[in-house]
Amino acid sequence: MASVNRNYLKLPGSYLFSTIARKVEAYTSAHPDADIIRMGIGDVTQPIAPAIIQALHEAVDEMGSDDSFRGYAPDLGYEFLRSIIAEKDYKDRGCDIDPSEIFISDGAKSDCGNIQEIFDVNNKIAVCDPVYPVYVDSNVMAGRTGEYDESLGCFRDVIYMPCTRENGFVPLFPKEIPDLIYLCFPNNPTGAVMKKDALQGWVDYARSHGSVILYDAAYEAFIAEDDVPHSIYECTGAKECAIEFRSFSKTAGFTGLRLGFTVVPKELEAGGEKLWPLWARRHGTKYNGAPYIVQRAGEAVYSEKGRSQIRQQIAIYKENARIIVEGMKEAGYEVFGGVNAPYIWMKTKDNMTSWEFFDYLLNEAQIVGTPGSGFGPGGEGYFRLTAFGSRMGSIRAIDRIKKL
Ligand SMILES: Cc1ncc(COP(=O)(O)O)c(C=O)c1O
Repeated sequence: MASVNRNYLKLPGSYLFSTIARKVEAYTSAHPDADIIRMGIGDVTQPIAPAIIQALHEAVDEMGSDDSFRGYAPDLGYEFLRSIIAEKDYKDRGCDIDPSEIFISDGAKSDCGNIQEIFDVNNKIAVCDPVYPVYVDSNVMAGRTGEYDESLGCFRDVIYMPCTRENGFVPLFPKEIPDLIYLCFPNNPTGAVMKKDALQGWVDYARSHGSVILYDAAYEAFIAEDDVPHSIYECTGAKECAIEFRSFSKTAGFTGLRLGFTVVPKELEAGGEKLWPLWARRHGTKYNGAPYIVQRAGEAVYSEKGRSQIRQQIAIYKENARIIVEGMKEAGYEVFGGVNAPYIWMKTKDNMTSWEFFDYLLNEAQIVGTPGSGFGPGGEGYFRLTAFGSRMGSIRAIDRIKKL
């Protein structure tokens, strides 16, 4: 008789954004004329930049012609894309990453979720609290955690590293030594960044304990300050202890096109075994490559025109973030993030719980945000707004909140 992977049964309730969608749906059916401003889900709204659209058109035409048609993409991605990434994202920042260490994929979510497969099931993971839920949930599914403790809102056998306003939302080294350390900076949901010295500290920590850092840099393009590293490989020794995930989603509006990549350095080992061949084996066995058309679009992100156009788009989101941060402060809220990230993290009003504040904003101002507690127990009492909406939406949202 077939039986299920019981680890899946450890996952509590429904996915955060499904719960939000259900609540919003209930509200709109009761108030069909409500003008709702959505600042919840971290999805982009700007259309794909013209230089990228042009590359897509050209690649589509190539697919319709005998002499330029492409079938399966190479397992690890097309050389044209891997070399331009190695040059522009790494060499230009002084990082020595070879194109062969770059694995093209359909986005950072799948890579962040799948990477745990190449590690032993007994490895202990450490995550920030609050955290992007994929890191924990994918390890739960794999059986690398204990049961969910309802009263604490945590899984057993996971090291949660509190990220609080006291530590600037940057974790301290945990007492118990983890095998795998998930770090994400600029951070979702707090919008915090880790400065170069602090990240170097984590690299040194990982190297001295034989841990591997799984570094999610999906929001790298939003970094505005000089002393914030864009890649973990800007730190000395990181190639010996870190894997890095990148995404085209927030950088260039590819949430619907799907493209990302993961860097696994050739010298990186865990317990004396190299990780590059394992990830290459996994990629080759379970993944058949991002579409040629989309990889050509990815290449166009690095062209002169492409770069300038995506910079303008990011500037629009960053200006929204500035408007939201300033406006929320004027409205009397304690606000974090929004400078090097598209996320604004704030304390709720009058010590409301995150979900109470969600209901309050929805009912009183028709604004949808994300309850901080959905990202882990450390997020309780906080709320996340995104800057991915329109300029008018951001301004109107602030006006409404100021009037509450
Ligand atoms: C921290 C973080 N990593 C990864 C992703 C997923 O990126 P992608 O669209 O490339 O799968 C997201 C998306 O919201 C994210 O917030």
